[in-house]
Amino acid sequence: MPATEEQRTYYVTTPIYYVNDRPHLGHAYTTVAGDVLTRWHRQRGEKVHYLTGTDEHGQKILRTAEAHGVTPQEWCDRLVAEAWRPLWEHLRIANDDFIRTTEPRHTARAAEFVQGLYDRGEIYRGAYEGPYCVGCEEYKLPAELLPGATEEERLCPVHRRPVEWLAEENYFFRLSAYALRLLEHYAAHPEFIQPASARNEVLRFVEQGLQDLSISRSTFDWGVPLPWDDKHVLYVWVDALQNYLTAAGHGADPERFAELWPASVHLVGKDILRFHAVIWPAMLLAAGLPLPKRVVANGWLMVGGEKMSKSNLTGISPTDLTAHFGVDAYRYYFLRAIPYGTDGSFSWEDFTARYTSELANDFGNLASRLAAMVGRYFDGSLPAAVEPGPAEAAVAAALTGAVAEADRRIGEELDFAGGLGAVFDFVRVVNGYLSDQAPWQVAKDPSDAARGRLATILYTAAEGLRALAVLLNPVMPDTAAKLWESLGAAPLLGPLAGQTIATAADWGRLPAGATITKGEILFPRLEALEEKH
Ligand code: MSP
Repeated sequence: MPATEEQRTYYVTTPIYYVNDRPHLGHAYTTVAGDVLTRWHRQRGEKVHYLTGTDEHGQKILRTAEAHGVTPQEWCDRLVAEAWRPLWEHLRIANDDFIRTTEPRHTARAAEFVQGLYDRGEIYRGAYEGPYCVGCEEYKLPAELLPGATEEERLCPVHRRPVEWLAEENYFFRLSAYALRLLEHYAAHPEFIQPASARNEVLRFVEQGLQDLSISRSTFDWGVPLPWDDKHVLYVWVDALQNYLTAAGHGADPERFAELWPASVHLVGKDILRFHAVIWPAMLLAAGLPLPKRVVANGWLMVGGEKMSKSNLTGISPTDLTAHFGVDAYRYYFLRAIPYGTDGSFSWEDFTARYTSELANDFGNLASRLAAMVGRYFDGSLPAAVEPGPAEAAVAAALTGAVAEADRRIGEELDFAGGLGAVFDFVRVVNGYLSDQAPWQVAKDPSDAARGRLATILYTAAEGLRALAVLLNPVMPDTAAKLWESLGAAPLLGPLAGQTIATAADWGRLPAGATITKGEILFPRLEALEEKH
């Protein structure tokens, strides 16, 4: 029986990455976004499942392994163990599953799935020839290629490398038969493809009609053999897309599958949008399975006007940046600085500027000033507010607004930059409140009334920080935990992970008497940058 909406798990996926090389900033960008999205939904109190993994078959991996003199399986095992899993751990990615397309739980089900399509008459034998980019693992349309160095040479628009001419007798999926049904689905579910620019691109593409898709290869054997013809292996993209189903237990664990499928969000880069918004839903329609709820495309991290790739990364790796700025600032920076869905560039200067002004000065200093004042004026024990007035009500109202806005933008719209903007506007509200109320002045007056006022001001700022720890926990989990600790919140309110986004807005949750300690500086001063350029 299909699970009801309430029981359903919020199931988020990243693309599964090719392991021909180590992860770079572009890969980490999507994976961090997915992690923030899933942590946000967890913090709402929902059941969440976050899947990432690796795409290990196909010509690109085979050629890389050959060039290194090892078998493709050895190559994949090595890269996954030495590069991919360790980076996700380092970046605090809290994925629930990690699928590798060479695992039997995947290969067995992927073969069954295509056999099912074959049995339904959705697959036939035919011939195809055309330009192919091994970098994309995709046949290209002649019209989309760029001119090369010679008269005949043509370049892939993504990789800017020459395409190869392939002529093969293969098996084909009747993709062309699905154009109309796809268009109907896009019309009935306008939220299916996001952002709007991505949706329009897909609509224009499908409106022109679709060609059938070659789904097998017979010139090499690094892939899943077709069950009805083992001289062919499954085309790597048809193999890869199925990870979303096989990892969810399709064909193996009906209960798990009913809870997880259809996926809530497929996060993809804009270069692989057609695979996810055209080919994948068509295959699911052909198999009679429900379609994912949303496919959300992110832009590219650019360098010198081109998509960042292993060849033009200017030598910057994610760990170079985390060594300098720390993991939490790294997670924050890319999501805050680049509106999700658009291209963006990285620069040391921009990262440094945001680190210093937003994280260290606005947010980090607020936490350390509050702890210092509660220490100095109240021996580290948070006083109760005495007669809060309009200034305090304004802070509480700003919090309610910030929580609602951040929840809508991050949790629903995947507008991470806008949501974080709302949270940091609230940081500035609390800072503005402190400068206006000037507790350091109030503290000079020994009267009971002034003492009460001082208590109210410090309590208000501490409450603001309590809410900020909850709101920033999905983005900067280590920092939020340190803040939670320094507010003495755990013994009174329980673990940070148990707090929900909704209760972040409940003013007055942090009880008086909390032991506020100075703790570690949340965002220490950065080392000089000179040598990093
Ligand atoms: N293996 C396929 C995906 C199969 S999903 C069923 C693949 N792998 S990839 O490793 O080449 O790319 C994975 C993702 O990384 C894509 O979404 C791609 O857009 C993203 N990025 C690669 N370089 C990027 C940037 N410079 N910036 C942002 N994302 C980029 O494609």
